[in-house]
Amino acid sequence: MERLLTMFEEADPFSTWWPTIAALAVGLVITVRTIMSGQRCPNDNQIKEQIVVVTGGNSGIGYEIAQALAGRGGRIILACRNMKAAERAAAVIKRELGCRTPCYPDDDTNPADRYFVEARYLDLNSFRSVHHFAGQLMAEFDRVDVLVNNAGLVFANTQLATPDGFEQHSQVNYLAPFLLTQLLLPHLKRSEQGRIVFVSAHAHQSAKIDFDDPLNVGTWAVKFHARDAFAHSKLAVLLATRWLARELKDTSVTVNCCTPGLVRGTRHFRNSPLMSSICVRVVTFPWMWIFMKNPYEGAQCAIRLATDPQLKQVTGEYFNDCEIAASSEPGQDKELAKKLYMQTIKTLESVTKLTVDREAYAVKLEQEPELRLETAPETETNQAEDMDTETEMETEMEMEREEQQPLE
Ligand SMILES: NC(=O)c1ccc[n+]([C@@H]2O[C@H](COP(=O)([O-])OP(=O)(O)OC[C@H]3O[C@@H](n4cnc5c(N)ncnc54)[C@H](OP(=O)(O)O)[C@@H]3O)[C@@H](O)[C@H]2O)c1
Repeated sequence: MERLLTMFEEADPFSTWWPTIAALAVGLVITVRTIMSGQRCPNDNQIKEQIVVVTGGNSGIGYEIAQALAGRGGRIILACRNMKAAERAAAVIKRELGCRTPCYPDDDTNPADRYFVEARYLDLNSFRSVHHFAGQLMAEFDRVDVLVNNAGLVFANTQLATPDGFEQHSQVNYLAPFLLTQLLLPHLKRSEQGRIVFVSAHAHQSAKIDFDDPLNVGTWAVKFHARDAFAHSKLAVLLATRWLARELKDTSVTVNCCTPGLVRGTRHFRNSPLMSSICVRVVTFPWMWIFMKNPYEGAQCAIRLATDPQLKQVTGEYFNDCEIAASSEPGQDKELAKKLYMQTIKTLESVTKLTVDREAYAVKLEQEPELRLETAPETETNQAEDMDTETEMETEMEMEREEQQPLE
């Protein structure tokens, strides 16, 4: 030990360039990391007692959005297809928020119980499930204040159609969230200031879209690679946001969309052929750590859109890093937005209803109150993913939490 101390004392850092090079490299990495992590939501506005629906809130960005909004006082409903993971996420959110809440000696309530986070079943692969979810929600609550359409997928098999007969990216990322939004609109309009937030992606910029078939249900669809299908669905989300904002201009409801940026540590790339290789994951890890956001950082834009009173009048916009951003040229095309919106309505009307019979669900709920706690049907995917989800989620959350800033 003494020898080591003497060595340090005698060392002359200026006799070599290495300490300077190392310091510059560390400085560069920290600078790049700070820039790439994006802007944080610039305020800590409270949303006391607001009813917030977050789709796909059991993991990744959705989980972070849900936790931040619960921490700000919102009553959070996690709308997820994997109920085990969703219930677990709800419990973890409450526990973590509870741990950060001060306890008072004369108050013996469990701090976690001060937060309202609840898991509900919603499978965007099925319009029936969307109807069921919306119907029950509307029967139970008299309004919805915030709807965050976060759930989404990429690199799914484009040859496999959903039970409703649509390409999977198209339905999960666009059609089903669109339907959910339409169904919940009457409830969002009952809110003092209803907010709809869609999560889109930078990838919309590379989308191919045919003006005569903007929904891409024609023959062109089969030529799409999963990447194209994802990009197309995220452009559709952006265009629908633009047109829906026009439709809602005389109401108190705003609708905006955002890109989370490139986010690591979520399960988004689970189907990516490249990222399924352990070697690629190990080799790319340092680069991902430097150049990509963590889920907390990726959630900031949606959190701002859901909470900031300064955005009360802002609608139909595309956000990146908490600020309004320019989208691709097709993303600004009003005619295309209108055509897509109208085609979507027409297509959805041909397979389902765009309204919910709230009264019928209320009666059903009264007769069978346990309906509310309906659990996910055990599909093969669910069973296989359950184990993954539980272990992966815990480790991912722990790792990410270490990097994150404390919640407001
Ligand atoms: N990560 C990125 O780099 C990135 C970049 C651009 C945009 N985005 C967008 O950000 C959003 C969140 O992604 P993430 O990175 O947090 O990925 P994630 O961890 O995979 O989260 C996606 C969520 O969507 C849910 N989901 C998928 N299919 C569903 C279905 N049929 N019904 C209901 N829920 C479904 C997933 O549920 P399960 O757990 O049950 O699968 C999961 O909770 C997505 O819309 C994604 O497209 C992400």
